[in-house]
Amino acid sequence: MELKELSTGAHRVLRKNWKGGFTIPTTKLYPFQWNWDSGFISLGLSHFNLDQAIQEIQSLFSGQWENGMVPHIIFHSENEKTYFPNHDFRNSNVNNGAPQKPKTSGITQPAVIGFVLENLLGRFPDDEKLQVFISEIFPKVVNSHRFFYTYRDPEREGLTYIFHPWESGRDNSPIWDESMNRIQVKEGDIPSYQRRDTSIANLDERPTSYQYDRYVYLLTLGKKYRYDGRAIFEESPFLIQDTLMNAVLIRSNQSLIRIGERFRFDTGEIKDWQQQAKSRFAEKLWNEDLETYVGFDLRAKKQILHKEIGGLTALFAEVPNETKAKSLNKYLTDLHDRGYYLCPSFDVDSPLFDSKRYWRGPIWPQMNWMIYHGLKKYGFEDTANIVKSDLVELVSNLGFYEYFESQKSLAAQLSTGYGGGDFSWTAACIQDLITT
Ligand code: SER
Repeated sequence: MELKELSTGAHRVLRKNWKGGFTIPTTKLYPFQWNWDSGFISLGLSHFNLDQAIQEIQSLFSGQWENGMVPHIIFHSENEKTYFPNHDFRNSNVNNGAPQKPKTSGITQPAVIGFVLENLLGRFPDDEKLQVFISEIFPKVVNSHRFFYTYRDPEREGLTYIFHPWESGRDNSPIWDESMNRIQVKEGDIPSYQRRDTSIANLDERPTSYQYDRYVYLLTLGKKYRYDGRAIFEESPFLIQDTLMNAVLIRSNQSLIRIGERFRFDTGEIKDWQQQAKSRFAEKLWNEDLETYVGFDLRAKKQILHKEIGGLTALFAEVPNETKAKSLNKYLTDLHDRGYYLCPSFDVDSPLFDSKRYWRGPIWPQMNWMIYHGLKKYGFEDTANIVKSDLVELVSNLGFYEYFESQKSLAAQLSTGYGGGDFSWTAACIQDLITT
């Protein structure tokens, strides 16, 4: 597909999913506003309409909690019936600091807004409206980072934890399997529920019912403790210091520091977080045998020994030294030489790899966007360009889907991508990659 045609397609998708003030990821499957989707969507929108890009972030922060958390879903509409678990199931108002309106979920997602703001400012340095917006939103974004370091890092290590795979964005990655298997769901432990996603997307592209029972279990646990506090840390069988979650936070810390310096805001607190976070990430999450960064299971007190895409986002956070960055780059060039699109979401050599099931193998557009920028920071231009052109090729051939087949030989036999169609962050990331 010509680049112009791709851009027209991206614009069409973003217009279709714009709901007046915010953008849904895709119809039916995800009919509300999602946190990290919105960050990428804002980037994409800014190429067509900066006002909308600003409104997207304002709408997201209309759901911010008093403790600073920006929830992973903002239920602007309370009447959509195509999604489970909806706002009533989440019942996030068990926490007094959650807004009554809009209703929100009680968990969070990767902190993308800091680096999105820096990107917007870099491209529209003299736009007055943007400057006013950034001055207003800056303390709220800092507060959302403070939430992580206050509530999700009780041992004050500089690394934030998650207590639900949905927080990581990589719902059913095999990296969670061991922790999820620890959860014994007995009758009466969870309320009965009906999934909606499997009547919209193909069953073999979505998480299993075994996994959904555990997602619901962990939500129920969160609700029991008002989605807050030490008790979740004490009780949750799922408690992980995730690579992606921490890498994105570090990347956004850095952006907030640079923005703050430009606007002459106080950045002392952010610098303190950043210094500790970067060094702790580098020492605690690197695995020498696997030559990659891995998550840390706080319950089992050990690293999670799998190669997967979160480890690569350390590049985006500028954590690795040159030697380690070279290892990550080589991992990607080897995969390219072996006939995979970059970047598969999980280790293609593991028996747990599944090239079509959500986060167990497929290619994800927003991950390519972050890894592309990470590789460029380290000067790996060739690999960065493959990461970009692979995504462009997939979208050109298969459409603006949620995620894509990672094996080139299999993708060549397909006429569509996987998951939801006309997907907003796919459109947004493509638009940004082909124009900047
Ligand atoms: N990604 C999750 C879902 O599929 C939750 O955000 O619903």
